Amino acid sequence: MFRPAGFGHLLVMNIAVLTSGGDSPGMNAGIRAIVRHGISQGHQIFGFVEGFRGLVDKEKLELDRASVSEIIDRGGTILRTSRYDEFLRPEIQKQAARNLQSAGIDALIVIGGEGSMRGTDALGKNGASVIGVPASIDNDIYGTDFSIGFDSALNTVVAMLSKLRDTASSHERIFVVEVMGRRSGSIALNAGVAGGADYTCLPGTPAIAPEQVKEMTAIVNSRYRRGKTHTLIVVAEGAGSAAEVAAAIHAGTDQEVRISVLGHIQRGGSPSAMDRLLASRLGAHAVDLAAAGKSGLMVGLVGGRLTATELPAAFGQKAALDADLYRLAKEVA
Ligand code: F6P
Repeated sequence: MFRPAGFGHLLVMNIAVLTSGGDSPGMNAGIRAIVRHGISQGHQIFGFVEGFRGLVDKEKLELDRASVSEIIDRGGTILRTSRYDEFLRPEIQKQAARNLQSAGIDALIVIGGEGSMRGTDALGKNGASVIGVPASIDNDIYGTDFSIGFDSALNTVVAMLSKLRDTASSHERIFVVEVMGRRSGSIALNAGVAGGADYTCLPGTPAIAPEQVKEMTAIVNSRYRRGKTHTLIVVAEGAGSAAEVAAAIHAGTDQEVRISVLGHIQRGGSPSAMDRLLASRLGAHAVDLAAAGKSGLMVGLVGGRLTATELPAAFGQKAALDADLYRLAKEVA
């Protein structure tokens, strides 16, 4: 659905953007880049609010340069987002594709996580021109070294571990800290190393598996005997809960144990510089792919280079954890 452009432009497109799934710091930087790079290329940019729900309910708004002023440093998403389970239904996906056509949208860019990439692909299979931009603090999306929001969440968790170390040391306590990530251990593993955790429980092995509880308890008691004033244990939510790990360790030590579930704190806050850079580069790259008539792809940054991955490959396989980093986590703890 290309239009004859004005003088000097090859083609002017109507490009829409929406944010879907769990929000993540940097989404606004992505929206800002899509709008401002798109306008610089002569395109018109629109937004749909609240993820795929806004597309189905035709809640569209025009975005101009002023629409995205002063948002690069704000967490969350000015377009708001949703987990819209109805979008799993084929008839709803068809309706959404029809809505794009009736709204005169030539291409849709979706900023979201693994589930949102699935929804984006479904739209593409219904005839829409679509490009995905990976955004999730979980960093569980294949086809990019990092997804937008992960670096910000990692910095938040590392800062929280430092604060918890202060009070743990003051009371000679064990702290079990539960972090997000759904089934991914990326936040837990990277925060464990960067935050100096003494043990990290990752998905794949239940956190309270007997051999793991035995290992953690031995580390806790050994540290106490060596005069260490605290022990910090990080638990990925995909491996279990901080409460069950604390109870299991408490049974094997005389020390006080406390827990901290970081929860949605990891989703908020001003995006890090790296996430602002990543989101800006991926957003602009998505516009360029759409303008070149590409569809069914997810943009990424791999080894410092901008890439494009077929959507089914992006959500069809899990981003594997770095085995070397896992070994390092044990060595440096
Ligand atoms: O996918 C991002 C994420 O923060 C997960 O790490 C977490 O398990 C989930 O979203 C929480 O979902 P909600 O925000 O709907 O409670």
